[in-house]
Amino acid sequence: MDFNKIGLSSLSDFPDLPTPPPYKIKMVEFTEIPPIEERRKILKEAGYNVFNIPSEKIYIDLLTDSGTSAMSDQQWSALMRGDEAYASARSFFRLKEVIHEVMGYEYVIPTHQGRAAEYLTFNALDLKKGDFAVSNQFFDTTRANVEVRGAKAVDLVVEEAYDLKRELPFKGNIDIEKLESFVSENEGKVKIIVLTVTNNSGGGQPVSMENIRQISEIARENNIPFFLDAARFAENVYFIKNRERGYGDRDLKEIAREMFSLADGVLVSGKKDGLVNIGGFIALNDKELYWKIRQLMVVTEGFPTYGGLAGRDLEALAQGLREVLNEHYLRSRIEQVAFLGKLLEKQGVPLLKPFGGHGIYLDGLSFASHLPREQWPSHATACAIYEYSAIRTVEIGSLMFAEKKDGEWIWPKLDLIRLAIPRRVYTLDHIFYIANSIGELYRNRHEIKGLRMTFEPPVLRHFNALFEPIE
Ligand SMILES: Cc1ncc(COP(=O)(O)O)c(C=O)c1O
Repeated sequence: MDFNKIGLSSLSDFPDLPTPPPYKIKMVEFTEIPPIEERRKILKEAGYNVFNIPSEKIYIDLLTDSGTSAMSDQQWSALMRGDEAYASARSFFRLKEVIHEVMGYEYVIPTHQGRAAEYLTFNALDLKKGDFAVSNQFFDTTRANVEVRGAKAVDLVVEEAYDLKRELPFKGNIDIEKLESFVSENEGKVKIIVLTVTNNSGGGQPVSMENIRQISEIARENNIPFFLDAARFAENVYFIKNRERGYGDRDLKEIAREMFSLADGVLVSGKKDGLVNIGGFIALNDKELYWKIRQLMVVTEGFPTYGGLAGRDLEALAQGLREVLNEHYLRSRIEQVAFLGKLLEKQGVPLLKPFGGHGIYLDGLSFASHLPREQWPSHATACAIYEYSAIRTVEIGSLMFAEKKDGEWIWPKLDLIRLAIPRRVYTLDHIFYIANSIGELYRNRHEIKGLRMTFEPPVLRHFNALFEPIE
């Protein structure tokens, strides 16, 4: 390895290596790096939208950590145990038992993925115009599921979450003072608190147990249902153990149980810490709410013991939930992500600190500082990263969140490029390749061309927008 290529002048500059993972590779999927001329052609054909790049033309795919995990041999074997009975299948009861063991909740409702859990819960709570749902920061689908019902989704994350450089251990926390005053100013109108752990929209930042306890007290005093959006619960638990006073010697399973005991239930996308490619669930203790959801779901998801999933999917999810609180695995995962962050930081690449649980977020406005916002600097950088190295990343910034008022753009505070790291998929060699490629592009960043939007869809712009380069 030529260390100069990744901007390290000597071995003493080298960050500590991450803990190696507690598994070995049994099966591989081949990937290739298409030649540069082909990558340019692909980008053009894709209308400079990374969602349109065929995945077989991607060498390393950092588009998302959702549904992209590698399953273990135990999960693949569990698929064979899938009971495909329409109702009351064995596989459901196995999943229910594991969720009860890991989270402690009484009732379990499988769903085809996280957003169905959101849809059903907000429907059962009858969220409507004039109501509020409050969060540290809502994930897009969670926000959309609140807002399609006419209610308003309100983010009350601590102000420091918007400061890229501010290093706080729990930058995903809710601002408790803001929460208290919002609840008292809108008495009776806050219909649910949804706490996202870890906070995906804020860069995978964790929430502390102390913060969760305070939210829980406010929720109970005011009779507001308190749910965790727990897609990345295990990563949050790992951060609590390693960053919060009093938890260093505690077992991860115990910390998880304490965290879940403070909430009334969870909405879960199993595609992250469930270590599966599809699936999700709701788990809760409120019998009345459970029965409402059961009745609603038959129309859209299926019978309550399968919720849109095959029996084998339930088995794989049950096994994934058993595996994910392995401390050795979580350490190697979080350290692998942080190692990539450190390699990029050593090369001066501007990024969000501290490093998140599931990915590294680059600061697109500094990366392509020569481009005005009207030329989509972060998205242009994501396209340049593909052109440069066949790595797919995604813009989480203006393209996703900017609004138009009277023909003028209103830009969001943060304009980021997310490098989401799939679980158990890429090795340290891949991490070096990513760090080397992005470092090199950063050194040549003045070559990144701005983009002009040629097609602007009316909703969820980033999925379907088309562009051309500004020569
Ligand atoms: C925090 C969070 N909540 C909910 C969801 C939605 O889950 P799904 O994609 O399974 O519908 C996601 C997906 O990325 C997420 O990150």
